[in-house]
Amino acid sequence: MKNKSQKTGRNALCPCGSGLKYKRCCGSRGAPASKDAESIYTRRYNIRLKKASDVEAIRKAGRLVMETLDLVESRIEPGLVTEEINTLVHKFTIKNNGVPAPLNYRGFPKSVCVSVNEVICHGIPGPYALKDGDIVNVDVTTILDGYYADANKSFWVGTPSLDAKKIVDVARESLKRGIAIVKPGNTVGDIGWAIQTWAEDNGCSVVREFVGHGVGFDFHESPQIPHFGRRGQGIELIPGMVFTIEPMINLGDHSLRILKDNWTAVTRDRSLSAQFEQTLVVTEDGSEILTPYDL
Ligand code: MF3
Ligand code: CO
Ligand code: CO
Repeated sequence: MKNKSQKTGRNALCPCGSGLKYKRCCGSRGAPASKDAESIYTRRYNIRLKKASDVEAIRKAGRLVMETLDLVESRIEPGLVTEEINTLVHKFTIKNNGVPAPLNYRGFPKSVCVSVNEVICHGIPGPYALKDGDIVNVDVTTILDGYYADANKSFWVGTPSLDAKKIVDVARESLKRGIAIVKPGNTVGDIGWAIQTWAEDNGCSVVREFVGHGVGFDFHESPQIPHFGRRGQGIELIPGMVFTIEPMINLGDHSLRILKDNWTAVTRDRSLSAQFEQTLVVTEDGSEILTPYDL
């Protein structure tokens, strides 16, 4: 039988460990006031919720990220050298008063990640010229007025093979399904579950080592957003959380290898890998994409 006799006093510290009074935390009726949620999410999970003016600033950075990706997309064709993508992104970002976040981030040598075919993520732009049938992911993160927005897209170069078509389509739909489940009351695990189920039901696999992340005040904030998981597990989503979802989906096995440059992640079995990423904010009734593009 459950022990119902030990009731927590309304002014006692909440047993959940938040450091708040019980009446202001788990003992409050209905949803806790936003100030309390903010304090609980900060203390318990190190999640910095964003207020409306923060979201507006990230939305502005997100618009610049999307203009940058649109510019790159318009230039994708066989023969384009990945270093030229870096130059495009770097110059366009600076011209628009932004800062390319990847440059010198933990020693990353370029202003954008460009990942071709079996490269999962963190590809370093260089002398490689895109060729017909390649798939290429371009991941742009821009700092504008001190705020970060992060998004990426995978493109076909010329005419895709059936495999190339499939992996890009599955990755795109995976992100779409991950986003669709975002709303207050659902959890981080629900996002991973939605993505993993779609990818694996289609015979593909989900990369485990790289995850989505809180973003806005910094490049990578709490929480981590795995692209695999179980329904109902993990942190509950609440309004004001801003994070990325960025599933990396492989045609073969999920395991990876990092090249000697210490950055480039490739599929261990050399199968194709594709990714899509957006930055979004949890709203009262769902989510708003802050790096909007059609999926
Ligand atoms: N943009 C990547 C992400 O989605 C991170 C790139 S880190 C870098 O989280 F150093 F490689 F740029
Ligand atoms: Co990201
Ligand atoms: Co990114």
